[in-house]
Amino acid sequence: MNIQDAYNEWSEIYDTNINRTRDLDAETTRLILKGRRFPSIVEIGCGTGKNTEFLAEIGDTVLAFDFSEKMLAKARKKVTASHVRFERADITQPWNCEPDSTDLITCNLVLEHIQDLNHIFAQAAQTLRRGGWFLINELHPFKQYGGTKARFERENEVIEVDVFVHHISEFIHAAEGTGLKLLKLDEVWHEDDAGKPPRLASFVFGK
Ligand SMILES: C[S@@+](CC[C@H](N)C(=O)[O-])C[C@H]1O[C@@H](n2cnc3c(N)ncnc32)[C@H](O)[C@@H]1O
Repeated sequence: MNIQDAYNEWSEIYDTNINRTRDLDAETTRLILKGRRFPSIVEIGCGTGKNTEFLAEIGDTVLAFDFSEKMLAKARKKVTASHVRFERADITQPWNCEPDSTDLITCNLVLEHIQDLNHIFAQAAQTLRRGGWFLINELHPFKQYGGTKARFERENEVIEVDVFVHHISEFIHAAEGTGLKLLKLDEVWHEDDAGKPPRLASFVFGK
């Protein structure tokens, strides 16, 4: 299903349906960033604001982009702090951000919907200040190879969202030449995943 339409529909149940990947991402993001503060944060693909709530606690300003109006509507209800701004935008287009203006960019469970990682890394590198971080948590490609993809249920039907498989090496190659360097790479399992492939790939790139 077309990505924007799918998330507009999924928004009603995104926060409440059983979704181990969503929950593991929330936990992993908080573990990586806990105890740090950032003057300026940009979140790309913020969805219903699951992580925006936490980013608002560790950032002096947060700018959160998503192209699904209905996901954004949920996020705007959830996070009302005045230092958080939501903007409807397609991140495959140039980002509405000043160069060298941001200390942290976060991207959680979004890049499986983006074909061209080079564009995302180029925009992130341009937007970050020196010393800034680009945090990415994605469905691990091992899960993608096995056919796992973003999906939700409508009545008794399973709706699959359009996705692109990205190998670990693609993230590393997309960073090359942008000035971003890999600082941390982790593979993360949910507690129910014993004996299975990792559920998340987690990267921190630094400028
Ligand atoms: C699986 S949700 C993740 C939401 C949130 N980051 C989280 O972790 O809960 C993916 C989000 O990416 C957004 N998205 C996908 N492609 C996008 C694009 N090209 N531009 C902006 N947002 C996009 C969708 O609308 C959706 O809200």
